[in-house]
Amino acid sequence: MLTTRQPVFRKFWHAVMPLSMLEGGQPQPFTLLGEAIVLFLDAQGQPAALKDRCCHRTAKLSKGRCVGGALECGYHGWTYDRGGRVIRIPQYEADRPIPADYCTPAYRCVAKYGYAWVALEEPIAPIPEVPEFDDPAFRTIFQFYERWATAPLRALENSFDNSHFSFVHRATFGVAAQPRPSKYQLVERDGGFHAETVIDATNPPAYHRVSGSTEPITQRHMRNAYYLPFSRRLDIEYPSGVRHIIVNAFTPIDDGHIQLCQWLFRNDTEADCPAQLLIDFDHVITREDKDILESTDPDALVDTRRRGVEFSMDSDRPGMLIRKQLMELLHRHDEEEVHR
Ligand code: FES
Ligand SMILES: [Fe+2]
Repeated sequence: MLTTRQPVFRKFWHAVMPLSMLEGGQPQPFTLLGEAIVLFLDAQGQPAALKDRCCHRTAKLSKGRCVGGALECGYHGWTYDRGGRVIRIPQYEADRPIPADYCTPAYRCVAKYGYAWVALEEPIAPIPEVPEFDDPAFRTIFQFYERWATAPLRALENSFDNSHFSFVHRATFGVAAQPRPSKYQLVERDGGFHAETVIDATNPPAYHRVSGSTEPITQRHMRNAYYLPFSRRLDIEYPSGVRHIIVNAFTPIDDGHIQLCQWLFRNDTEADCPAQLLIDFDHVITREDKDILESTDPDALVDTRRRGVEFSMDSDRPGMLIRKQLMELLHRHDEEEVHR
């Protein structure tokens, strides 16, 4: 599935950039679903997103600078507000009016969970709820903001696939001697599903503070939720009571790349387990996933020749369900377009 060919994805919020990247006062470029956009902070400190193209002579606005909450093109200084309108042309006399159609497209852009989120068209679903973000019982650790050469569907399948642990993660938490994964309980809901299982995980001394336990093999109670189209929330609970909640947005850059956005929420303290250790721990694991995912085909949606194999493997059921729900979304959208 080539994400840029599916216009319905333009109607969802996507996590695009940590707000901290905008706080330096420089506009920042991003490519979302193949569309070059530029982000900056307006006069209220709120993120704004415009097409990264000046309406004067097409220069990239991300090469300009922020001036008083507006965005000044680096070529001749035409200046845009967050609505995309040109509000200043330095070459004009002060009283000369600026035509209203001197503008560049503006996109919906809001701040949430420390990120700028962008919807290229009127969104049909809210940003997924992450209650831990405001819960004092949890700390928030911004883990990863990385470009990966893969597709969001490949990353999502991987996020719900517990048959790769013994192979991709055999050097970390995967139990190589246990290639048969535990069964998933799957419950569909509007806009996604809930997948629950308990797995064994290798727990070497280097991970004891991560798991809160010293057993050589520990358990992970995994409550994994999918949110259409490209997000998931994995709540890992260890027998120690430690919760390790990973939230991912696999933001589609273009047909072959995603921006991996990863937040971590923990119900312990910095003294229990330093944030840097948690970043290092999950970094090794995401490296393992990245390496194998970048070897996969970003375009294959459902390979019918493999369907029999997939149905015979319980651990592929979540991946199949993601594809089913995505296909239903695409069909619903196509039907609506036809009847419009
Ligand atoms: S190209 Fe942007 S002001 Fe001229
Ligand atoms: Fe993995």
